[in-house]
Amino acid sequence: MTKRPGYRLHDDKIQRYRGVILVISIPLLLIGFVLFVMPSGEESVERYAITHRKVPPNLSSGKSYAVIFDAGSSGSRVHVYCFDRNLDLVHIGKELELFEQIKPGLSAYAANPREAAESLLTLLDKAESVVPKELRSSTPVRVGATAGLRALEGDTPDRILNAVKELLKYRSSLKSDPQGVTVLDGMQEGAYQWVTINYLLGNLGQDYSETVGVVDLGGGSVQMAYAISDEAAAKAPGASPGEDAYVSKMYLRGRTYNLYVHSYLHYGLLAARAEILKVSGKSGSPCILSGYEGSYNYGGVAFDASSSSAGSNMNDCRRQAQQALKVNESTCTHMKCTFGGVWNGGGGDGQKNLFVASFFFDRAAEAGFIDPNQPVAQVSASDFEDAAKRACQTSLKDAKSTYSHVDEANLPYLCMDLVYQFTLLVDGFAVDPWQKITLVKKVKYQNAYVEAAWPLGSAIEAAHFDWKLDEITGMGVFRLPGFLSR
Ligand SMILES: *[C@@H]1O[C@H](CO)[C@@H](O)[C@H](O)[C@H]1NC(C)=O
Ligand SMILES: *[C@@H]1O[C@H](CO)[C@@H](O)[C@H](O)[C@H]1NC(C)=O
Repeated sequence: MTKRPGYRLHDDKIQRYRGVILVISIPLLLIGFVLFVMPSGEESVERYAITHRKVPPNLSSGKSYAVIFDAGSSGSRVHVYCFDRNLDLVHIGKELELFEQIKPGLSAYAANPREAAESLLTLLDKAESVVPKELRSSTPVRVGATAGLRALEGDTPDRILNAVKELLKYRSSLKSDPQGVTVLDGMQEGAYQWVTINYLLGNLGQDYSETVGVVDLGGGSVQMAYAISDEAAAKAPGASPGEDAYVSKMYLRGRTYNLYVHSYLHYGLLAARAEILKVSGKSGSPCILSGYEGSYNYGGVAFDASSSSAGSNMNDCRRQAQQALKVNESTCTHMKCTFGGVWNGGGGDGQKNLFVASFFFDRAAEAGFIDPNQPVAQVSASDFEDAAKRACQTSLKDAKSTYSHVDEANLPYLCMDLVYQFTLLVDGFAVDPWQKITLVKKVKYQNAYVEAAWPLGSAIEAAHFDWKLDEITGMGVFRLPGFLSR
């Protein structure tokens, strides 16, 4: 965490004028909306505080914008959001956000960081064009890189990010901060996505028990995020060395939330295929559709991925998925664990409604039990089990016609993916097979649908937080923010 230069120098002045500052700032605190971060204080609970003060960045326009780049593995995307004084989203043209994307992603330019950065220029131009000129210099721009960049070797990710920082500094009229250009870790993605979904549902500002929990199944990792009670947070176990703390404090719309987030590396859908194939080794996998012989490449390693002589079988596949998830291994040193010795957060009301995103939605649509054209669907884990049963009984040859929407490269893994999703929910996260869960791609907000992804959560932080750091740090409490800085 970087302290603002000169922060110390102001300290004694601040002591002297503290009374005055307080008198002036209390009404400001009450009328506006800004998010801020507090220094960490406790061992087990990380304190990054996000709260609001109600002074918009520009009182006469009453609007604030934020530009967020999502640099993913398959492409780069830009989101521009506009908020009013109450932190409600305002239309940009006909839509609630400007969204543009290009392919390939930054990681495709590993050999040439400058070219990587310049690939963002067309997106940057479009983003700037929708922000009113007089607001550009106060509009924060952030770049969050995810899986693709994380996977590059050596100092390549840093060199690419540095080139992007330069690009934003010299070629953009927006307010860039080098700290806003980072590789997001799974924990940050999970926290921002929780903010996004609960914001869009109108839950922020309400008791934690009114919020929903979020499961995000990416390619490399899976995240679980939900709010827990103060009592549960006080009892949270400390994180293992080198790991993120389990619980973070966030202040959103006048409320303090204890957010439990955990990111399970190696248990995203594509990574889990490798873990499951490790279990069967060279003997043929009960998870691979019969008739397929090949290998699966993940993280630069090839895994034997041929069907077993008996063909695919749901029960055998599930046992291997359980083994990959280590659900029956007693490594739990906490009250209760999910899998792999990870504390489960204690459950509770913040988890009773689960919103489940990314690959859960995609595979459910491909398996044909939800409508891909609807933004949300109510299902239960047992729907994944039923779909898995059907898929596992299908040979590769028949699957080509039965599952015509499924990408050819994914087809041999259809039984495995569906079994894994069922196993992850039921054995991993202890979700009741009949409990209703919501598969979500977009959330309805006013009369539009907004993507249920991390960039909006990051924008909410950026738009209302990067503003007027002098006043903020001047009070001696707050720190310069990064992505949910810790
Ligand atoms: C605030 O916004 C108004 C109208 O959009 C603009 O004219 C003015 O210059 C802005 N003020 C600052 C300090 O950016
Ligand atoms: C794990 O335990 C459950 C319940 O005791 C059992 O049904 C399942 O077969 C076990 N899985 C493995 C891989 O041993």
